[in-house]
Amino acid sequence: MNIPREFIELLLAKIDIVDLINTQIPLRKKSGSNYFARCPFHNEKSASFSVSQQKQFYYCFGCGAHGNAIDFMMQHERLSFPEAIETLARTAGMEVPKVAGGAKKDDSLPALYALMTEVTRYYHEQLRGAKHAIAYLKNRGISGQIAKQFLLGYAPASFHQILDHFGKTDADKKKLLDTGLIIKKDEGGYFDRFRDRIMFPIHDYRGRIIGFGGRILEKGEPKYLNSPETALFQKGHELYGLFEALRANRKLDKILVVEGYMDVVALFQHEITYAVATLGTATTAHHINRLTRYVTEIIFCFDGDEAGRNAAWRALQVLFPLMQDNLQIRFLFLPDGEDPDSLVRKEGKAAFEARINSASSLSAFFFLTLSRQSDLGTIEGRARFASSALTFIKQVPSAILPEILLEELAKRARVDVTELKQQIRNPAASLQIPVAIPEPEISKPKLKPAMQIALALLVQNPQLAKSVKTSLPQGNLLGLNFLHRLLDVISLQPEINTAALIESWRGQKEENFVKNLACWEHSIPEAGITHEFLGTLRQLNLLIIEDEINRLLSKASEGELADEEKQELSRWILKKKEMTVV
Ligand code: CTP
Ligand code: MN
Repeated sequence: MNIPREFIELLLAKIDIVDLINTQIPLRKKSGSNYFARCPFHNEKSASFSVSQQKQFYYCFGCGAHGNAIDFMMQHERLSFPEAIETLARTAGMEVPKVAGGAKKDDSLPALYALMTEVTRYYHEQLRGAKHAIAYLKNRGISGQIAKQFLLGYAPASFHQILDHFGKTDADKKKLLDTGLIIKKDEGGYFDRFRDRIMFPIHDYRGRIIGFGGRILEKGEPKYLNSPETALFQKGHELYGLFEALRANRKLDKILVVEGYMDVVALFQHEITYAVATLGTATTAHHINRLTRYVTEIIFCFDGDEAGRNAAWRALQVLFPLMQDNLQIRFLFLPDGEDPDSLVRKEGKAAFEARINSASSLSAFFFLTLSRQSDLGTIEGRARFASSALTFIKQVPSAILPEILLEELAKRARVDVTELKQQIRNPAASLQIPVAIPEPEISKPKLKPAMQIALALLVQNPQLAKSVKTSLPQGNLLGLNFLHRLLDVISLQPEINTAALIESWRGQKEENFVKNLACWEHSIPEAGITHEFLGTLRQLNLLIIEDEINRLLSKASEGELADEEKQELSRWILKKKEMTVV
């Protein structure tokens, strides 16, 4: 992670989580600085989702989803951590600085993007003079206009065209190498990766060109040559055509996922402008998370043969743990020997869209596949069918879909649905996305109630640290080290809020623990918090002393104490006396 911590804290201080969430989900003010809404992370009728302006923290009493503004962006907008920071910074009008160390690599990225743009333009211009390339595209039904929209190009049949044109200096050659446009020869020197190929530039969702796919014009191997994985391009994350689809449609309601570059382009040519292609890889969770940011319906297109059905089953396994109730997934199986490109050219838009509209639902495909594996005519077969279905249904984190699947399963396996529900009931079943479920850690490893209250009050009201006049002793009481750490962190930044405070534990083993403290309901009235906190600290002080006395006494009962330990013991006893006298 190369974003400075101070920047993240500054950002969290500048963003108001209430404003942020309110633009997505209308919030209603209820009590104090708390706002409520129906939870965006699970399906519910009442408003259990609370947002605290003071803590800059949200928490759902229904499903346990919780976090600060960064978590919200990660969970709701499905962004990665750096993406969340970047988006929030843009909202706040701030620029994300990069710390030294990671800086060298990051500094080079803009130059690499710029190079990709220039090379794309160059390949596109080369198309004009390349009669056989134009003929190839025409023959495949691609118009000049579509070629322009997708910036299709032609890589000349030369080993050094790109090298000569863009690789004049060593620094330029390095950039070409870093973007995968040239290849280093074993014996020294370089040569162009793409030669005599139709070039498909690959955009990321923001429209930056990150890689290329190049198709051979004649028969030959490999048919498609892709950019290697580079700093710009990660195959399993990207979807060809997504940027073009987003640009062509003001509001997308569904996306069709196909296999190939030509499928996307041919569909677009036939005014089906919402297709994207995985780049010769299987569907990944990255793909799905990306797509669910734009649409609530995804149709996956597969070959109608066994390989296609296997690919669909693999996609389904990726999908189940990511399912939300508002997400509709369907599978479209194509006739033997056809792909979307050949089919849409043969049948036209309307017929192809009719196929899309009658594509089978996720659940239909799910049960069909499972029922093929067991003989539903026998009790044993039905039991096997039910138990394998259950293992999948258990993974679905949303609220309603598992219910529907269980009803259907009960019918098909001829078992009682309540029995199935009992087998599956667990708290995760009500969670809509796989947010970390708050582990009941607070109550688990027997924190003393006073410690729990002190920690939670401090996390939720960091400014309480100012009221601490006498420092707590060190000791072995569970949670005490953490309390000291909290006080230290806050003393360095007395104005820190809860959101920024918990941020400093992101990715560490205490992360869930701190978040739990931030969520924990203490039911102490606002006006009494300082008083309660100081009282609890006094109580803790006594507990620490007693804890140490007990420790030393029990040691003494096992053998002689060292002189130092004896002195320590009498110091503790004295302290206890002082405290109980006051
Ligand atoms: N692919 C690849 N490398 C290959 C072959 C295929 O990366 N050597 C990827 C490409 O993204 C390609 C997709 O897999 O678009 C589908 O491949 P295939 O079905 O073989 O080709 P088509 O898309 O049908 O290509 P075309 O219609 O141009 O023959
Ligand atoms: Mn094809």
